[in-house]
Amino acid sequence: MKNTSIPPSILAELESAARAAAGRAYAPYSKFRVGAAVIGGSGKIHSGCNVENASFGLTSCAERNAIFAAVGAGERAVRAVVIYTPTPTATAPCGACRQVIREFGPDAIVISICDGNGRIESTIGDLLPKSFGPEDLG
Ligand code: THU
Repeated sequence: MKNTSIPPSILAELESAARAAAGRAYAPYSKFRVGAAVIGGSGKIHSGCNVENASFGLTSCAERNAIFAAVGAGERAVRAVVIYTPTPTATAPCGACRQVIREFGPDAIVISICDGNGRIESTIGDLLPKSFGPEDLG
């Protein structure tokens, strides 16, 4: 799906924040650096990078770190997420991150960018159809 609702200037800011965040990734084990930036309901941009751990299972993805930073800063809605990897092809968010994006951004636009021409433009509804969410808890 083509992104239609994020203005180009905001998109450029999100892309630049995601690229900068990837530069701060702590990925000594996988060497796979990821940066993510989200725009919250307030219009502010928040970013995060992947943070690995010698106890591998404790690794935390860039997307979740960006969203948790946003929520910690007071946001309760996520309008769009941009994910950057310094790779020839774009990387879609993992399943766990999709669920966390969905919690705060059931209509969020999700865009993955990279150093090549590949680009994935989608929505969380496409990436995580028929999902579980807060409404299911009644
Ligand atoms: N990673 C992310 O940051 N986001 C994803 O959606 C997929 C994977 C990170 C976790 C780990 O540090 C590295 O990429 C390799 O899996």
